[in-house]
Amino acid sequence: MTGADRLVIRRPDDWHLHLRDGAMLAAVLPATARGFARAVVMPNLVPPVATVRDAAAYRNRINATAKGGARFTPLMTLYLTDSTDPEEVEKGFNAGVVFAAKLYPRGATTNAESGVTDVARIAPVLARMEEIGMPLLVHGEVTDAGVDVFDREAVFIDRVLAPMMKDFPGLRVVLEHITTTEAVDFVAGGPERLAATITPHHLMVDRNHMLADGIRPHLFCLPVVKRASHREALRRIATSGHPQFFLGTDSAPHAVAEKEAACGCAGIFNAPVAMEAYATVFEEEGALDALENFAAHFGAGFYGLPVNEETLILERDPWTVPEIVDVAGAAARGGVRPFLAGETINWRVAGIGPPSKGPVL
Ligand code: DOR
Ligand code: ZN
Repeated sequence: MTGADRLVIRRPDDWHLHLRDGAMLAAVLPATARGFARAVVMPNLVPPVATVRDAAAYRNRINATAKGGARFTPLMTLYLTDSTDPEEVEKGFNAGVVFAAKLYPRGATTNAESGVTDVARIAPVLARMEEIGMPLLVHGEVTDAGVDVFDREAVFIDRVLAPMMKDFPGLRVVLEHITTTEAVDFVAGGPERLAATITPHHLMVDRNHMLADGIRPHLFCLPVVKRASHREALRRIATSGHPQFFLGTDSAPHAVAEKEAACGCAGIFNAPVAMEAYATVFEEEGALDALENFAAHFGAGFYGLPVNEETLILERDPWTVPEIVDVAGAAARGGVRPFLAGETINWRVAGIGPPSKGPVL
């Protein structure tokens, strides 16, 4: 095997992940832990993870499920609501239980019914987070029925994010799962305290893939995939070596029955193919040497965490993505269908390697 067929990078982290709970958690966690060392775990359970106690209990359930697999650290988030108490947020952060807080505009996506109706209502929480240096993770879409679903991210940036950045000049903000040229430009032109995560599916898929050849419910997620020019902008910035853009899969499993329905829900389960998909995109862009920074350095740098000691080994070894990942018990309902199911992908995660001898950059 030549150098071009084998890639050894620092073990990466997933800075945006949905792990769910119970049987679904048990079914999907191994796909993440086989590669990623740490993951920022989204709090949109039903009911949401809205207190420090909820976050600690959820972390225990994840750790119990992860036991026996590769070393894996969940980084917990708190779900902000109109009535979140700044004291609770600070308590969780100072105790090391809660890593960041998540802003879902109410109704913006899956399990966002308890989200925030108006950012003005959480101003005291944001002020406290700014003071203590706690990051805010943002689902950046407005929810007004009058705004076209394809415009909701761009309108959010204008109406909500830009004013928020001014009103809280010390707040650290991550605009999650960006999908538009507008988001790329806003973050690239913003201060270092602003960053963005990019998913594998938004790098690989545009709305033609989802709609032009029949409707493909397994490619539906929120923010929804946009026209091709936006995808190209995402590919350019992800592979450019810009440190404010880093990996966040937004892997979001749903049972097949809930995706293939009259009103199918949003979310793409990409954990079984995530690093493989990123490697494919970076190779297509002639930028494989930029993958390690995107996947393992920039996120850690933004959050002030050390880079992982271990390495991840990827090999060029074509394999076919499984059609279904089974879920035990009642939660099964047809299992979960991974992103790129049935397709052949050239890169394969071969395993986790020992600590790298090279310098930690
Ligand atoms: O497509 C999505 N699915 N977007 C989100 O923001 C949430 C996620 C989920 O939880 O299923
Ligand atoms: Zn998400």
